[in-house]
Order: sequence, then structure tokens, then C-alpha cells
Amino acid sequence: MFLGVVNITERSAINLAVEALARGELVAFPTETVYGLGADAMNASALHRLFEVKGRPKTHPVIVHLAAIDQLAEWASSVSPRALKLAQAFWPGPLTLVLPKAKHVLDEVTGGQPTVGIRIPRHPVAQALLKEFGGGVAAPSANRFGRLSATCAEDVCSEFGDTVSYVLNGGPCQVGIESTIVDLSNGTPHILRPGMILADELSFVLGEPLVSFEHTASNVSTPEVRAPGTMPSHYAPKTPLYLVPSELLCGEIEGCKARGLKVAVMAFISAPSCFSDIAWTVASSNPDEYAHNLYRNLRFLDRQSCDYLLVESIPSKKDWNAIADRLRRASAQGL
Ligand code: TXA
Ligand code: MG
Repeated sequence: MFLGVVNITERSAINLAVEALARGELVAFPTETVYGLGADAMNASALHRLFEVKGRPKTHPVIVHLAAIDQLAEWASSVSPRALKLAQAFWPGPLTLVLPKAKHVLDEVTGGQPTVGIRIPRHPVAQALLKEFGGGVAAPSANRFGRLSATCAEDVCSEFGDTVSYVLNGGPCQVGIESTIVDLSNGTPHILRPGMILADELSFVLGEPLVSFEHTASNVSTPEVRAPGTMPSHYAPKTPLYLVPSELLCGEIEGCKARGLKVAVMAFISAPSCFSDIAWTVASSNPDEYAHNLYRNLRFLDRQSCDYLLVESIPSKKDWNAIADRLRRASAQGL
């Protein structure tokens, strides 16, 4: 039963959400990366419902969200010096650590793996919810499996309608793309998913290099793939998306128009007057701003009933890596 979108200015909002979680219901909440669809991480039937609502295969693990570092030992069987270093440097924040799981962690959370993904988000609403709830909240991104993540409460509602009890409205997410995931469960630290915390920042804190996600991602197309965000087609709009080098963009648009195809565009420049009839989003040349707006922009363009989304290629620089990863996966179906 959908009980409503709750603005965090309402005093009792957090209490209502906590009560719903405790009853085994689903609550969507904002984090600084994207909105999460939360369930009590210790309640197997709530977790089954979570997977069902999201349309996600049961073998894919979900991240457990906690309020504070002192809860880590309840969820991980061992907390290595590396884990502590990263936790202290980046939590609360947009980082997920994959660690050996504690015994009691349910298979529904881990997908049957011996590890658990843990994150302490810094968004004040997520913090308030997690503190008040006290336990772990399992939360994948609040979108249907394989689709674009949601970065505002309205987008969560359009994904799930009345299948969740509450959507806590904390406004637009600051970071805008999902957390960096670092696997610390065996030997060398691996980046499983790039995010806005960069490899260089992580290796600076650890004092050692990390295996980059490109290397990790090159062998993940097997059915046992551990991180759905690392499958080739993910974070995808419904409209086929193509990445187009800057110098070819205008020609591509002309070509599509000549063939009677309707396109929507995201580019760094504003629309030249000859394309004033086209749904056109101007993207920021600052990677933080680009990431902040990415899913909102793609969702907007996806609603324009076009044949194609054309996205201008982005700079191949380290601080654009996570964005490049999301765009590559969003465009996988169109290749
Ligand atoms: O920013 C985020 O991480 C957001 C917010 C809500 O926290 N969450 C998110 O969850 O993106 P989700 O489920 O959409 O993506 C989490 C990724 C998945 O690709 C999952 O497979 C991976 O984390 N993951 C979770 N636990 C794991 C584990 N034990 N081993 C390997 N990968 C894991
Ligand atoms: Mg996701």
C-alpha cells in the first residue's frame, strides 16, 4: 500500500518510515548519490519483496546501508586496516566497501556470496532514517532493474507507483550517480564500479594502487556476474542512446532528420538555431555538475518519444571515468 510521498519537513516522516521498515515494508529514501529503495536487511520476506518490486534477479547482491562506522563489525566478519582507512577517509559518503560477510547476513542480501557490500551515506535524511532505524537497510538504487537510477522523489514515484509504502522526499541528489564500489574481500583492492570518488583518491589513502574497474569489467559478462552495474547494458533509457563525437554531432542530427527520425540531444553547446525544434539539453563541462544532472537529463530526453538519444562524447579524463562508464552502459543496447 502506498502511503505517500513524505517531505522531510514533516516532523514525523522519519518515524513513519522507520515503522514501515520494521513492519517489513519498503521505503524509498534519498542518499547523496541516488535514491535507494530500502528494506530491513534482516527481514528475508521484506528482501524478497524488494527484489520482486525492483524486478531484480535474486542472485544479485544489495548494499547494506548503515548509520555509523561502529556498526561495521556487526555486518563484516573482519574489518581490515585497509577497510578502516577507506571508511575513515570517505564515510559518510559515496563509497561502498565489499567485505567478508558476518555469519548472520542473509543470502538474500549477498546473493549467496561470502561477501557483503556496505555503505554509510551522508545525506541527512538517509542518516536520520538509519540512525532511528538502528539496523541495516538493504537498498538498491530506486529504479527498475537495468533502468536509469532515480535522483529525485518524483522519479522514484514514476518507477514504482504505489508499490512502496513511503518515498522520503529529500530533494535532488547531490552527486547524482551511484557510489564507487571497492572490493576489499581478497588480496588487492578492486574497483568494481567507478564513482565520483576516484581511483587516485582511494589509492592515495591506501598508499597502494587498486585494480581498476576496466580490468574488473572485462570479464564480467558471465551469468555469475556479481555486480549488475557492471553488465554491459545497464542504467539504460528506453530510447536507444548513441554517443557521438563532438565533430560528428551536427551531421548525425541532419542525417537522422533527413531519414524522418526524431532525435533528442544532450550536448555541451546549446542548440544551433537550425535545430531549435529538437529536444536539446545543455550539459555542464564540469564533471561534478554533469554527474549531478546526468540521470535527470536522460530521463527528460527519454520522455520526448524520440527514435534516438544522441549524447555528445565526453572528455576522456580521469574525473569523467564514472560518467563515461554510465554512458557506455546506457548506450550498450544501441550498439
Ligand atoms: O550509490 C549507491 O550505491 C546506491 C545508493 C542507493 O546507495 N545504491 C546502488 O545499489 O547503486 P544497486 O543495487 O543499484 O547497485 C549496487 C551494486 C550492484 O551492482 C551490486 O551487485 C553490487 O553493488 N554489490 C552489492 N553487494 C555486493 C557484493 N557483496 N559483492 C559484489 N558486488 C556487490
Ligand atoms: Mg542500480
